[in-house]
Amino acid sequence: MTQTLTIRRPDDWHLHLRDGAVLAAVLPETARHFGRAIIMPNLVPPVVTGAQAAAYRDRILAALPEGMTFEPLMTLYLTEDTDPADVEAAAASGLVKALKLYPAGATTNSASGVTNFDKVRPVLEKMAEIGLPLCVHGEVTDHDIDIFDREAVFIDRVLDPIRRATPGLRVVMEHITTSDGVDYVKSNTENLGATITTHHLIINRNHILVGGIKPHYYCLPVAKRESHRQALRKAATSGDTRFFLGTDSAPHTDENKESACGCAGCFTASNTMSCLAQVFEEDGALDRLEGFASLNGPAFYRLPANEATITLTKGDAVTYPDKIETADGPITVFDPGFPLHWAVTEA
Ligand code: DOR
Ligand code: ZN
Repeated sequence: MTQTLTIRRPDDWHLHLRDGAVLAAVLPETARHFGRAIIMPNLVPPVVTGAQAAAYRDRILAALPEGMTFEPLMTLYLTEDTDPADVEAAAASGLVKALKLYPAGATTNSASGVTNFDKVRPVLEKMAEIGLPLCVHGEVTDHDIDIFDREAVFIDRVLDPIRRATPGLRVVMEHITTSDGVDYVKSNTENLGATITTHHLIINRNHILVGGIKPHYYCLPVAKRESHRQALRKAATSGDTRFFLGTDSAPHTDENKESACGCAGCFTASNTMSCLAQVFEEDGALDRLEGFASLNGPAFYRLPANEATITLTKGDAVTYPDKIETADGPITVFDPGFPLHWAVTEA
């Protein structure tokens, strides 16, 4: 008997689309299955003002192939010079759905991020007032903190103090990778959600380092030990509405990944829904996939769930291209390391 699963069309609450040739190549990979996505602003230079976000949104829509429907939900990159009035206007017009906080130096193109958190206090207060979420890359960048501890230390030293100092600020802890992140979200009942990526549900740090270094599994925050992956799986498949999908699909060309200083990012846009169906089935939680991928995110962002649906069908192994071609070079698609049996058959 064929097994099928029809769910509301999913959204991706954390996505890197880049610009130019890469944007043109990766956008259809997301738009094929997803209705909307929160678009990361870490371009070079970053998307800082409402005007820049409007121009980027236009470039994304211009790159969308005929016949595809997709709504980019724009974000602004929070800098120490961000103007609260610009943020308020960009949110009021409906253009901007969140601000993104990168601690300076935390990851790809984060040089403009925040060093002195006192400088962004007026912006955070404005955001709390108008209910605009802050998306947080939760890693400290201090050189004396071990890379595997950066998320846990960030929660204690930065996130919790910010939330205490700005009551009412709505925060999304993005791409959580540890049980510390899961526990922090669960211990807070208000104004806090978290996204979890596809790849962090599937790989742990051994996948990156055992048997030769695997640059296509390297991302930030870096995957942690197995017990943390288990905690993420439990949170994602639990039905707890504070956890939702943000793929952090982050395209880099093979040349930039397979290098002596390889870029961070896993490109999961193409096969995420097949991967997730497999993960949720394995954990006996297929009935909770819709909540994680299609319902909990819109609820947090105070948006309606998509009316459209997609259907997944279980069958013989479904294959995806190993790479997608772009004018800048090939980009490797995430390899979950096991055969995928759920195909998106209607979208
Ligand atoms: O792995 C990552 N890649 N993590 C990030 O935070 C940024 C992203 C990128 O832009 O490549
Ligand atoms: Zn990201």
